[in-house]
Formats: sequence, structure tokens, C-alpha cells
Amino acid sequence: MLDIGKNDLEQIFSVASKLDYVLKDRTRLKTLDDKIMASLFFQPSTRTRLSFESAMIRLGGSIVGFADAKVSRAGDAYGESLEDTSRMINNYADVVAMRHSESGAPRKFSEHANIPVINAGDGSNEHPTQAMLDLYTIVRERGDINDMNVMLIGDMNQRAVHSLAYGLAKYKNVTLYSVYPDEAPLPDQVQQNLKRLNMNWHRVARPEEAIGKSDVVYVIFSKKSVTDPPTREQLTITLQKLKGAKPNLLLMHPLPRMDELPTEVDTAPYGRYFMQPYYGVLIRMALLLALFGREDSI
Ligand code: CP
Repeated sequence: MLDIGKNDLEQIFSVASKLDYVLKDRTRLKTLDDKIMASLFFQPSTRTRLSFESAMIRLGGSIVGFADAKVSRAGDAYGESLEDTSRMINNYADVVAMRHSESGAPRKFSEHANIPVINAGDGSNEHPTQAMLDLYTIVRERGDINDMNVMLIGDMNQRAVHSLAYGLAKYKNVTLYSVYPDEAPLPDQVQQNLKRLNMNWHRVARPEEAIGKSDVVYVIFSKKSVTDPPTREQLTITLQKLKGAKPNLLLMHPLPRMDELPTEVDTAPYGRYFMQPYYGVLIRMALLLALFGREDSI
């Protein structure tokens, strides 16, 4: 998300909006029927892998790949290097969507691949297509990303948080409030990047401190065992805590969720976490079209 310009991002949003009918009509285009995507998921995924694969198939393309590193030579006794794996991938595919536990792995892979490599989540670094779909959800559900307050709740070392913060920094007058345990702060490098991007962000001790002024509340799982305040219970979003929320609040979560977003909250009118995966397919379709320069063919 640090690499992509705002104009390119908004072009992807614009193309995504033209693709609604493909999902609504459950149809399939032929725009990429000469293309193959390698779906290389060295780490588990439900939404990102399935939506990339679904996006490619909806555009008429084909898929090769694996969903578990253990069935590749990188994950068995050979432990084949990323460099060697990438050196042959252009024989099999025209684009790669890749998730890996190592930060920077997709960039390293791209150096030898000779075809576009999309980062589908790398270690604790970034999850850029998640941020694109998160920003697009805000555009579709609110109309605009400028002039708003966003509260991030949970583990600030999660890659989806970093990419979302970088994405939000491209817009005007966005203030970030974050609530996190001492043991899961925003990494120094991310803080430095946000400072360079002039992002206005503040830590608050409890969700209740910023809920009333938030336009978006973005909840994320905290893996750390939280012993000091804010405790897990204090980080959990409940109906009670949402009582002071703006009527048009967007409550978002990249999913999967655990106890930080209990199902009782699904009855409130704020949740968009089951719309985000829908927008995610549109965004990934638009991104694939952009990489092949075929946005005008739809
Ligand atoms: N949001 C997200 O990245 O989900 P998956 O881990 O299921 O892909």
C-alpha cells in the first residue's frame, strides 16, 4: 500500500464498481480467458485465496496452485527456496497471488518471476488487497473516505492494520484512534511511515473513549494473551459499548473473528464484515484486469 498511488487505487475502485453485475448475475466473462493465475498460498487462508480464485474464474481465467506449502517442494524435505520456485513460475502462469509467513516474501519472489506477483499477505508486514477492499467498502457504504475518524481495535502488529493505515493516509483529514494492549503496539517502522505520510493517529485506552466520534470501527483479533489493561474483555466490542455510536457507523473486521467481535453484535445495524468479502471479489477482479491492462474490455 506504500507503493500504490491514490489515482491507481481510485481507478481500481471505479472498475470494481462496474463489475457488480458479474457477481449479482453469477455470470462469467471471457476477458482473461487466455490467462492463468498461480495461487500460491504458503499460509492458510479462506477469504483471500477463494476470492482471488473466484475473481480469476469470473473473468474467464484459469487457476493453478496450492493452498498448503506442505504439498509443494518449498514445504517438504527439499525446502526449495523462494528464488528457485519463482524462477520457473512464468512457465506455468501469467500472474501470481501469493501469501507467505515471511515479511517481504512476495517482493523477493517477484524479483525472479518475470510476471506480476500480488501480495496476498506477507508475515506481519502487509496485506494490501485487504486494505483495498476495506477502503472500497468505506467508499461503497459511506460514499467517501475523506474527513472521518477511524478507530482500530486489537493487535496493531497485524498486517491488515498496517496496510489499512497506509491506505487511509492517502486521504484528507482522516484521524486514526487505536486501542491496543501494551504487548501488541504499532511497530516502530509503521509508526515512522505514518509520520512521514502525515497521518494523524492517537492511542486511546478504551474503545468507549472514541466510539462516539468514530465513523469506522475496525476490529482485529489480538493473538497475545492480554493480562494488563486493556484486557481482552475491554477490547471486545459488545452491543453495550456500541450504545454511543453514530447511527451511520461502519463496523468492520477482516475476519476470521474470535471473541473480539461476538455474534450478538451482528444484530446491530453497523456491521459490514460480511459485505467486505463481497467487495473483496470485485476489488480482486479489478486488480487482475489492471495488471493485464484490460480494464476497458469489460
Ligand atoms: N481477511 C483475510 O485475509 O482472511 P483469510 O485469512 O481467510 O484470507
